[in-house]
Amino acid sequence: MRKFEAVPEREFDLGGVVPWGRRLREYEAFFGLKELAGLSPVLDAGGGPSSFAAEAAAAGIRVVATDPIYRFSGDDIRARFEETAVAMRTGMHRAAYRFRWDYYGSEEAVHRLRREALELFLADFEVGKKDGRYVTAALPGLPFPDNAFRLALSSHLLFLYGDDLDFAFHLAAMRELLRVAGEVRVFPLVNLDGRPSSHLPGIMKALAEEGARPELVDVPFEFQMGAKRMLKVSRG
Ligand SMILES: C[S@@+](CC[C@H](N)C(=O)[O-])C[C@H]1O[C@@H](n2cnc3c(N)ncnc32)[C@H](O)[C@@H]1O
Repeated sequence: MRKFEAVPEREFDLGGVVPWGRRLREYEAFFGLKELAGLSPVLDAGGGPSSFAAEAAAAGIRVVATDPIYRFSGDDIRARFEETAVAMRTGMHRAAYRFRWDYYGSEEAVHRLRREALELFLADFEVGKKDGRYVTAALPGLPFPDNAFRLALSSHLLFLYGDDLDFAFHLAAMRELLRVAGEVRVFPLVNLDGRPSSHLPGIMKALAEEGARPELVDVPFEFQMGAKRMLKVSRG
């Protein structure tokens, strides 16, 4: 009898939401950010080991990042990052056909950027915690007063992990982000398999019914093929 190669159920088998962080210039592309200083203070919800807050601080711009992993030590976050890097290589080899490489150039370049981001984040982590730049918190609960931020960003958490995080979680998270910031931007809007998030239409409808103004906006970035729009929501 002919044997068939086992096909993994998911190309990216990450075992949950993983710490895999991006640099400030990537955030600028994901969210069409031009004058970041004019948008601050900014919340980076689920910032993980991204260097967005650290690089912004170095430029004198206030970004506060929240993430449940901030309760761990830098060494623990580094160890989890290393496990993630292995899983990412496996996933990327399976899924390379559905990525566009014009922004990054190669898989090596992606890993190089992730390591740069990790090092910049770790170098800032202890001083940043004291400065209130890294706050341990998990959506959908944020320890900030109403309207504490002008802009809240969610990069590579909401919608991307839509198979792990259900519709109710997404709606509660979006409501909470809109409570603490006048505008919320989310990227990407596809799940880990590269399919458009099934949560997105319902979330946009629910937020519009509550008086917010959700819109889909083209951004100058595409890595997962077809993922070239962000969700932008103003409180209304
Ligand atoms: C793939 S990383 C993205 C990091 C960063 N936003 C970026 O794009 O570079 C996803 C992050 O979401 C965090 N996360 C998981 N569940 C969360 C929750 N309920 N609230 C906030 N962050 C969460 C994880 O700890 C992880 O650091």
